[in-house]
Amino acid sequence: MADKVYISGAKPLRGEVQIGGSKNSTLAIMAACLLVPGEVRLSHVPAIGDIRTMAAMLAALGARVERRGHEMCIDATCFRAAEAPEELVRKMRASFYVLGPMLARWGRARAALPGGCDIGTRPVDYHMRGLRALGAEVEIDRGFITARTRGLTGGRIYLDFPSCGATSHLMTTACLARGVTTIENAASEPEITDLAEFLTRMGAQIHGQGTSTITVQGVDRLHGGEYTVVPDRMEAGTYAVAAAITGGAVTLRGVVPEHLQPVIMKMREMGVSLTSRTALDPYDSELRVHAAGRPKAVDILAMPHPGFPTDMQQPVMALLSLCEGSAVITDRVFESRFKYVAELRRMGADIRLDGRTAVVRGVEKLTGASVRATDLRAGAALIVAALAARGDSEISGLEHLDRGYEDMSRKLSALGAEIERTATTRPMPAAVEA
Ligand code: UD1
Repeated sequence: MADKVYISGAKPLRGEVQIGGSKNSTLAIMAACLLVPGEVRLSHVPAIGDIRTMAAMLAALGARVERRGHEMCIDATCFRAAEAPEELVRKMRASFYVLGPMLARWGRARAALPGGCDIGTRPVDYHMRGLRALGAEVEIDRGFITARTRGLTGGRIYLDFPSCGATSHLMTTACLARGVTTIENAASEPEITDLAEFLTRMGAQIHGQGTSTITVQGVDRLHGGEYTVVPDRMEAGTYAVAAAITGGAVTLRGVVPEHLQPVIMKMREMGVSLTSRTALDPYDSELRVHAAGRPKAVDILAMPHPGFPTDMQQPVMALLSLCEGSAVITDRVFESRFKYVAELRRMGADIRLDGRTAVVRGVEKLTGASVRATDLRAGAALIVAALAARGDSEISGLEHLDRGYEDMSRKLSALGAEIERTATTRPMPAAVEA
């Protein structure tokens, strides 16, 4: 039996929660480790499903991967294979990022077209065009991408949209290409900057990370070293929303406030109080979230960084379901990231959809229900909604949630939530009327 989470809601969260290392940053860094013929030691690696999938991918390609708690050691000196195992690429889109490093080191690479969260068509055309600009021959044949090169060379790459995946994949691959590569209209998300800093620490020459033009001067080889992954802004944002939706007061430890700026600004506009304290070690920096009263409706436009992050659009929709007034949420990054709305409606949310836009009419209360997560952030949205809902909720589809959140039930329970994760199905009482 698959686990389910049971939440008895409407209890304010209080206390402190530690935020872990960034999932997206770690995934890109792990793939980049394939470029390094030496040992890389990573700290603050989150213990989540996607990281286990990427570790399995690197191991299947012949790299040595060892993990102790939140430390991970990767040594790709002996990595040989040039074909990414299909079941892993289908399981997680980011595992496709190994294609470029395989190509850079061995001149050939093959991978299945990727899977991942079902939030839109998610093509890989930018990745393919970018690899071609670096001197590779790239073909798609019966669901597989094959790439070959006699030696990568620097090139000019323009992305039609500032894609995070294409920017990190191509920036990584270009590190070992001969000459200079420029990526125009590059993504500027904090995870791209973190990846660039990691690669630089290992000997790469990269400029412009965090802006829309990234320049990479190819080097002959990279070397091993140590690196601390940046804290996860999406995990932090999710707990901030959980605190606000329950009318609680929670201190998040391990937050880089600049990375969460769009979320902080919008939550303040809703009337939530957020104050930060920056320490030398980002894992000691804090964000205190305190909510008193009902949030006010604000419109949300999910855009590439520094716009409002699409990954936070879902948890924030749960918060806006309980707001005073009506809000319009538009997602300009993914075309169908609203599949979870039907589940929020089961809890009493009043949401209308029109293409990439959702109109949320705030209701005074949500009620517990049996709901299913359809993707990673949808799962987070349902958990935070259930924390605020009157009565009991049952949340299934936890395999999605486990891809990106470490120990969520334990962390929420430590903040005072009445939450239990179990494989035993509980009878669900009828929804409680207030
Ligand atoms: C990454 C993140 C994901 C986040 C998203 C947007 C990881 C592992 N995942 O996903 O959490 O929600 O960025 O911030 O880091 N596109 C194309 N062609 C391509 C590539 C992308 O058309 O070759 C389009 C996509 O369909 C989408 C948009 O570009 O509409 C942005 O996607 P992208 O930034 O690439 O998302 P991911 O890297 O998959």
